[in-house]
Amino acid sequence: MQVDVLLGLQWGDEGKGKIVDVLASRYQIVARFQGGPNAGHTLVIGGKKFVLHTIPSGIFREHLINLIGNGVVLDPVTLEKEITQLTTAGISVQNRLLLSRKAHLILPTHRYLDAASEAAKGSSKIGSTLKGIGPTYMDKTGRNGIRTGDIHLAGFDQRYQTLKKKHLHLISLFPEIEFNLAEEEERWMASLDALRQIPQVDGEYYLHDALQSGKRVLAEGAQGSLLDIDFGTYPFVTSSNTITAGVCTGLGIAPQRIGEVYGVTKAYCTRVGSGPFPTELHDEAGDYLRKVGHEFGSTTGRPRRCGWVDLPLLKYSIMLNGVTQLVVTKIDVMNAMSEIQAATAYRYEGKRHTNVPYDLNLVSVEPEWHAFAGWEQELASCTKFEDLPQPCRSFIHYLEEFLHVPVTMVSTGPERESLIERERVSASA
Ligand code: GDP
Ligand code: IMO
Ligand code: MG
Repeated sequence: MQVDVLLGLQWGDEGKGKIVDVLASRYQIVARFQGGPNAGHTLVIGGKKFVLHTIPSGIFREHLINLIGNGVVLDPVTLEKEITQLTTAGISVQNRLLLSRKAHLILPTHRYLDAASEAAKGSSKIGSTLKGIGPTYMDKTGRNGIRTGDIHLAGFDQRYQTLKKKHLHLISLFPEIEFNLAEEEERWMASLDALRQIPQVDGEYYLHDALQSGKRVLAEGAQGSLLDIDFGTYPFVTSSNTITAGVCTGLGIAPQRIGEVYGVTKAYCTRVGSGPFPTELHDEAGDYLRKVGHEFGSTTGRPRRCGWVDLPLLKYSIMLNGVTQLVVTKIDVMNAMSEIQAATAYRYEGKRHTNVPYDLNLVSVEPEWHAFAGWEQELASCTKFEDLPQPCRSFIHYLEEFLHVPVTMVSTGPERESLIERERVSASA
């Protein structure tokens, strides 16, 4: 069996959580491969909204196992809160949540280091979620990190104290950073008890055996391809590989095992935090998308910057990920618009370009636009692609032709049920 992948093609918040929840009914395992509590994946089930930060979005499908992979960085306090949120809603994680022993732990002091790093950057700050993601991955690659498997080892406390001491020394250089370590540390230590209850596995062996025995696995991405540490709009990115390659390192999957790659894009585009955004709208259209699309961060509540869909950037993401199926979400947000735009190329340095420049921070690109007529009607009654109004179908067809990838799903609302599927949607064998 192959591992299918679902990930975001923009700057995150494409609606990955909702689509994973829908697709999960066709898989036996959903596995998160990178990121941490900087992610906020929203699911609306039976009219109730759930936001998942660490737990894979397959948790609402009773039959399947959810694995937190080794590529994830995990804050046990956030995880405990998520488990409580689910348990209160009557959803048990027992026997359905597994944790890779090799995932790295976010310490309270990692979050303070995140704040210190942002403070040091001043006006060029990244706009991090301040969840400690960057510093935790730095400790991982710096070979100082603490892994979830370590919480069962005798020397754990000593290792924690050593790393904490190192962090406190670094933080002392930033006296303006305020924190209450004693209180947060107590909470963190207490949450380790909950963490110890979650069965830990060698995720790479677990998945290998599952695939050998014919189980279907869906890898769930967090953030988006344009936030990838290598190929995103550096330095305004996150600290992990958010692209398909991250599935190999974040779960221990061999490259030839990758099957379908579902690339999720909004019908427009958003970004939270700082960094370049060539198609950003600073007018009423942008305000309209923010208002109607409820574009406020699921993790931080910050207003998301809104703009038109950017096809050169989408093409780039599709190339990097090997996307085989496109999923277009939030198309309903544009229902009332009389005209819609998409960027098809960039003009800079006196020339027209279809490739993304080396550094979008350094060149001021002028998008070339293609205008589409709006459909100016509700889509709630559309259940098949053919039901969609003609201008809406034309927009989708244009995306397919431009990007050379079939659009196999169109999402028309936040609920599970608001999804139009077309052929080629099957778990790969
Ligand atoms: P993720 O991080 O990629 O999982 O996306 P988020 O959950 O952060 O943000 C997507 C938001 O859009 C959430 O509030 C979803 O409930 C909502 N959403 C997802 N798909 C659709 C859709 O097709 N239409 C509308 N109107 N909202 C959607
Ligand atoms: P999901 O999985 C949108 C952004 C932050 C910031 C930058 C770095 O919900 O799509 P970090 O906390 O990683 O140091 O922040 O990345 N960012 C996200 N934006 N959706 C996310 O996740 C994000 N995770 C991080 O806003 O600009
Ligand atoms: Mg999100």
